[in-house]
Amino acid sequence: MTMQSAYGQEIPKENVELTHVGPGTPMGELMRRYWQPICLSDELANLPKRVRILCEDLVVFRDLRGNVGCLTLHCAHRGTSLEYGRVEAEGIRCCFHGWVYNTQGKCVEMPCESPEFVEKMDVHQPGYPVQEHGGLVFVYMGPPEQQPLLPLYDIMDPDYWDNAQLKGMRLWEDHSIGFVRDCNWLQHYENVVDPYHLLILHNMISGDQFGSAVTSGDWPDIQFEDTPIGVRYRSARDLPNGNHIVRYTECILPNLFMVANIHEKGEIPKEKDKCREISWCVPVDDEQIYGISIVAWPTENGEPDPNWKAGVDTLTDIRPGNLRERPYEEKQRWPDDMEAQEGQRTIAVHDLENLALADRGIVLLRRALRKAVRDVQAGKDPQNIVRDPALNHAIETNGWTSVMPIKERMEAVS
Ligand code: FES
Ligand SMILES: [Fe+2]
Repeated sequence: MTMQSAYGQEIPKENVELTHVGPGTPMGELMRRYWQPICLSDELANLPKRVRILCEDLVVFRDLRGNVGCLTLHCAHRGTSLEYGRVEAEGIRCCFHGWVYNTQGKCVEMPCESPEFVEKMDVHQPGYPVQEHGGLVFVYMGPPEQQPLLPLYDIMDPDYWDNAQLKGMRLWEDHSIGFVRDCNWLQHYENVVDPYHLLILHNMISGDQFGSAVTSGDWPDIQFEDTPIGVRYRSARDLPNGNHIVRYTECILPNLFMVANIHEKGEIPKEKDKCREISWCVPVDDEQIYGISIVAWPTENGEPDPNWKAGVDTLTDIRPGNLRERPYEEKQRWPDDMEAQEGQRTIAVHDLENLALADRGIVLLRRALRKAVRDVQAGKDPQNIVRDPALNHAIETNGWTSVMPIKERMEAVS
């Protein structure tokens, strides 16, 4: 057997259709058909916030009357960045010559010009519509005439819960989750439906990084399937304590996901314990992402329960591998999601992959995304576009965990 030499190997181009998100690209146009979370509501105080999303540079601000605006970054006068502007009652005032733009982008004041001149010039700073929900600010960057509703998935519908408070959350930016990752968005998104890496990367290679019933023990039974809103996997196994655990984790097109409790110990029986976090994997551009979530935080007597812990990693149980900065040797000896995903190249090259049976979730996800991209190109609404307010209530999601003492009973609820 002779070695297959790497000499002269040509690296094919990445899968542009699924990975590039700039204006006019196939995936970029798909992403722009949905409301995307641009920041936390709490991040808009009395300073403007610069955000790069889908290869566009924007400024988000809340005027002193409480209205939120999202405008292109560079001032329509002579281009200075509005991140250095001043937030006022009427809008945002550019630092350079003081032009003021309201949240709709209309220039309402030019201090160096007469009001008549301002009226006659009728200058507008381009921007996008925004809305707030669940502690997040969402922006719609697509064609104005195609603007849909923000889909109210069950766990982000306040009416779904008896005792919960919706919180917008992300982790600090020096951690690799809820944060910034330096690779293409699809690598992070595909990770959601890659349950096999839980047992390899997060256990066999780097030691049990979660200490849960999910990432240790016998090989689980794993299955993949399309759902009405995306793709999910089902992972099931008998536990040494006699319980049986079933866990569903779902990708919701185009870039949302719900990860079932990664810290589940499987000690206390529970039926259909719904995920309480819904997250977005938001492309900054083709080579970077940020993560941001709505968490349905349990309340007691109307107050957030201080003892409750989110199902995926939080700052209180952060694992070392989530740190952005670690010694190189430590990264080599105990790699984590960040090393594995960024290590796929900045943008993974699909043509060089050898997809195997364990990659069925990735195959289903790419297929669903490809269909959605092509639906947009064909002039159709892609999956999960909601336009009818009457139907926009507690749209069922499919990520949850069950722990059952008896296997048969388990199967009855799955
Ligand atoms: S560059 Fe903004 S007001 Fe002149
Ligand atoms: Fe992981």
